[in-house]
Amino acid sequence: MASKLFATLAASLGPAQASLEFKWMIQQSPKLQHLTDMVTRRSRGEPLQYILGESLVLSKSPNLLTSIPGSQPFGPLNLLTRPPVLIPRPETEHWVIKLADRLSASSAQPKSLLDLGTGSGCIPLLLCHLLPQGSLRAHGVDISTHALQLATDNATLCAIPPESTSKNTFTVSLGNFLSPSFPDDAKINLPYDIITSNPPYIPWDEYLQLPRSVTAYEDPKALFGGPTGLDFYHAIARLVRRKHFLRPGAIVALEVGHGQAQAVERIMRLDAHMRDTEIWSDPWGKERTVLAHL
Ligand SMILES: C[S@@+](CC[C@H](N)C(=O)[O-])C[C@H]1O[C@@H](n2cnc3c(N)ncnc32)[C@H](O)[C@@H]1O
Repeated sequence: MASKLFATLAASLGPAQASLEFKWMIQQSPKLQHLTDMVTRRSRGEPLQYILGESLVLSKSPNLLTSIPGSQPFGPLNLLTRPPVLIPRPETEHWVIKLADRLSASSAQPKSLLDLGTGSGCIPLLLCHLLPQGSLRAHGVDISTHALQLATDNATLCAIPPESTSKNTFTVSLGNFLSPSFPDDAKINLPYDIITSNPPYIPWDEYLQLPRSVTAYEDPKALFGGPTGLDFYHAIARLVRRKHFLRPGAIVALEVGHGQAQAVERIMRLDAHMRDTEIWSDPWGKERTVLAHL
């Protein structure tokens, strides 16, 4: 029976990848019924992180989790993943580590950070982990209650508390930052020193070409950025140019999609009235992050 299951998996993934993933599945649960379910889901194209990740329980210690496939490495953290919340991507990890280096070089005063569209909480949680303890109070906003629950579970797993005077902290709240009533109707504490966001940025024509393993499982709300892919950047620009939204000297760091960096840089300069903009490339040579200063 196991060899039949392996053959099914190999038919969709190829023998090398199937052998790796089958081993992880057996490690997760050797029961035949569970294995059959996992192989069926995987053969239909569901991301492995969702299949293995959802059965992880929070009582497992972070150290134990390191050895379990299905959690998603993000810098030195291992984060839980759960459908339909976006699985953190390596290109995001790269710029967040670079941002942590930049921020730790700045003043020792505690900073407040707002992460717009926080998803799994990966961006603020990694910054909380990397920056000196007691120097960051991070808050994540998302429109999805699934995302907020996952971000809260990830904070617990990473031992990042919602309140503390000596440690970095992370809290979340529900909010729609495209809405004209945001931030007045959201539970957030203005002003902020740092805004981060990896907003939905995929334009309609590209969305239609994404692989099924993405569109069938990851929330379209996490991906689709309006007809041109730029809707969320315009919304962020409207927010940050409001009085008292940012503290003087604030930094805005935004992940961008393929070919969007120049347009987003322009939006930040002309609409958000920010200056000293920078574009950072990812390790694969693509322009990936726009940084702007107040
Ligand atoms: C591309 S995902 C990024 C998630 C996470 N920050 C990351 O880097 O993996 C965008 C996130 O924005 C959230 N989102 C979409 N529309 C939103 C809105 N109008 N207001 C707040 N959050 C929104 C989605 O639910 C999703 O979690």
